[in-house]
Amino acid sequence: GLVNSRALFARAMADGYAIPAYNFNNMEQLQAIVVACVESRSPVILQVSKGARQYANETLLRYMAMGAVAMARDLGVDLPICLHLDHGDSFELCQSCIDAGFSSVMIDGSHLTYEDNVALTRRVVDYARRFDVTVEGELGVLAGIEDEVSAEHSTYTRPEEVEDFVSRTGVDSLAISIGTSHGAYKFKLKEGEEVPPLRFDILDEVARRLPGFPIVLHGASSVVPEYVALINAHGGRLDGAVGVPEEQLRRAAASAVCKINIDSDGRLAMTAKVREYLAQHPEEFDPRKYLGAARSELVRLIRHKNEAVLGSAGRV
Ligand code: G3H
Ligand code: 13P
Ligand code: NA
Ligand code: ZN
Repeated sequence: GLVNSRALFARAMADGYAIPAYNFNNMEQLQAIVVACVESRSPVILQVSKGARQYANETLLRYMAMGAVAMARDLGVDLPICLHLDHGDSFELCQSCIDAGFSSVMIDGSHLTYEDNVALTRRVVDYARRFDVTVEGELGVLAGIEDEVSAEHSTYTRPEEVEDFVSRTGVDSLAISIGTSHGAYKFKLKEGEEVPPLRFDILDEVARRLPGFPIVLHGASSVVPEYVALINAHGGRLDGAVGVPEEQLRRAAASAVCKINIDSDGRLAMTAKVREYLAQHPEEFDPRKYLGAARSELVRLIRHKNEAVLGSAGRV
C-alpha cells in the first residue's frame, strides 16, 4: 500500500541518499516512474500538484496512484510508494488530499509572514496526525529568475528560524531555499558564466541546528542539456534553459537532504522525444507511438537519477 514519508526519510538519512519525488499528471508519466523505480529498486514519492489535480481529475489521479502500487507488485516488487501533495497552498486543499487517502502533504506557507506560515502549517499538521499522514513545510522562497529581489539573496532560508519553525509546527520535513528555483530557467547566465553553486553553507547550518531532521530540495532538475538541444533541433525554442548540475545534487543527496523534487527534467525528456519522433515519423498519428517513445525516455531518465544522482537505487 501507500506509505508516508517517515520510514523512507529515516533510512535515507541514515544511509546518506535522497528519496526521489517525481510529479505525475498522466498515465505515461506514472507508468515510467513505476517501471523505472521497480527496475532500479528505488522507493519513490509520487507528487501531485494542485494543477495536476485540475488537469487530470483528482479522483482519477488518486486511483492511478493506488494502481501504481498494484502495478509494481505485478512487476514483482513491493515498492514503497508515498502519495504526496506538492505545494499545497491552503488548509482545505491539504485536508481534501488527506481525506482522499494521500499519505503525505506539503503545506507551502513560504510566501506568508513567518507567524502566518507557522499557524497554517501547525493547523495542517494537527489534522494530518489523526491519519498518520506526514507533512512537509517550507521556509524561504525559491528564487524566481524574473524576480529581481532573488539576486539579493533575501529569499534564502534563514537558518536562525528553523528550530523554532519545526518545534512549533511539528512538521516531518522542511523544504529550504538554497539557490534552486522551479522550471527550466534557473539561472540567468551571462556569456561564459558558470552556474553559481548552491548555498551549501546554509544547508549545513540548517542541518547543524536540526540534527537528523529530513530536509527537502525543490527545483532540483538539472535541465539536461541533451534534451534542450533535441527540443531546439526539432522546432522548439528554449533559449538559455539551465538547471542544477548533477554533481551538486549528488552532494545534496549525501547530506541531510532526504527528498529531491524533479519535474521539469521529465517534461523536457518527454517533449524532446515527442518532437523527435514526430519529426522522424511524419506519417504516424497513433498517440501510443510518440507517447511510447516519450515514456521510454522518461524511464531512462528516472533510472539515471535514482542510480547515478540520488543514490536511491537498490534500497528496496
Ligand atoms: O513545483 C511545481 C511542480 O513542478 C508542479 O508544477 O504546478 O505546473 O503542476 P505544476
Ligand atoms: P523542477 O522544476 O526543478 O523540476 O522542480 C520541481 C519541484 O520542485 C516540484 O515541487
Ligand atoms: Na540525504
Ligand atoms: Zn517545488
